[in-house]
Amino acid sequence: MKMETVLSGIRPTGRLHLGNYFGALRNFVRMQHEARCFFFIADYHSLTTHPDPASMHDNIRDVLAEYLAAGLDPEVATIYVQSDVPQVAELSMLLSMHAPVGELERTASFKDKIRKQPQNVNAGLLTYPVLMAADILQHRADKVPVGKDQEQHLELTRVYARRFNSFYGVEYFKEPTAYNFGTELVKVPGLDGSGKMGKSEGNGLYLSDSDADIRKKVMRAVSDSGPAEPGAPMSEPVANLFTLLRLVSAPEVVAHFTDTYNRCEIRYGDLKKQLAEDIVAVVAPIRERIEAIRADEAYLHRVTSEGAERARESSAATLADVREIMGIKRF
Ligand code: TYM
Repeated sequence: MKMETVLSGIRPTGRLHLGNYFGALRNFVRMQHEARCFFFIADYHSLTTHPDPASMHDNIRDVLAEYLAAGLDPEVATIYVQSDVPQVAELSMLLSMHAPVGELERTASFKDKIRKQPQNVNAGLLTYPVLMAADILQHRADKVPVGKDQEQHLELTRVYARRFNSFYGVEYFKEPTAYNFGTELVKVPGLDGSGKMGKSEGNGLYLSDSDADIRKKVMRAVSDSGPAEPGAPMSEPVANLFTLLRLVSAPEVVAHFTDTYNRCEIRYGDLKKQLAEDIVAVVAPIRERIEAIRADEAYLHRVTSEGAERARESSAATLADVREIMGIKRF
């Protein structure tokens, strides 16, 4: 049986939080031994929000060190920086010829950005899903481990793949699916009682947080005044704490707190203490490796150069086919 290809990326716009970890990174680590894997740092995508050029390189270093500290193995997976494979920019440009502007304007992420940064609605934001499709299609990926917020982008990638195949009368691109190891896609909630954990929301738990930071943040997380009667529906902040608990704690622990909640005997302080310790158990071993890896210039150079070479080879082969299919030939 042919090995499946798995690919995913994360933008270097700050230290990685538990949303990035459970939505994407943990999946990469679990899948690297069973598939042909490409994991990259999406630095081109991060340029849509105009990061400070002086901090760009260190931001990439942070994500790379966190990938490796979490257990990504460059001996089995191809780990690279997106801009080290410029072929993706050409593929994105070629795919954009079949990406109607109206369709791009209707994507949720574009509408969200217009709201959040009305002073900077650039063309890169509009074509963001096309570049993302090029990331995925250049390696002909089958599965893309991402969080729930990326689902619509994956849908568009499938639309572009289908449209390309049908326009040119070929069966060239596969249709990739958004994927979470063994279960549904996840949306990791923040600690502020609503929405999802995010870099800019100030509600995150980071892989680089100290044990003390984690305990402090979890103990301060929003909850409510307790269930009014047995079987009362959970408020959003409390449901969020249970979502986090299901991600990090043993099933018996989840069952215990669900039971005490249902009997109106829950003490949120106990739940939070347990939650904090179980998060510390996930984060501490990763955090302890981050700084040493981050400082190892020679290792980071080797990982990214070998990764870029393998990724360029795969990407160049796809690009040569796509050029030919579209009628671009050499004299
Ligand atoms: P980015 O950098 O915003 O997020 C990286 C990954 O983390 C996931 N994530 C979450 N998952 C669950 N709960 C959360 N609270 C949470 N917050 C973030 C995201 O779903 C994502 O998987 N466009 C992408 C980067 C990208 C990419 C790609 C991904 C560029 N090209 C090709 C896959 C394939 C992004 O901005 O992710």
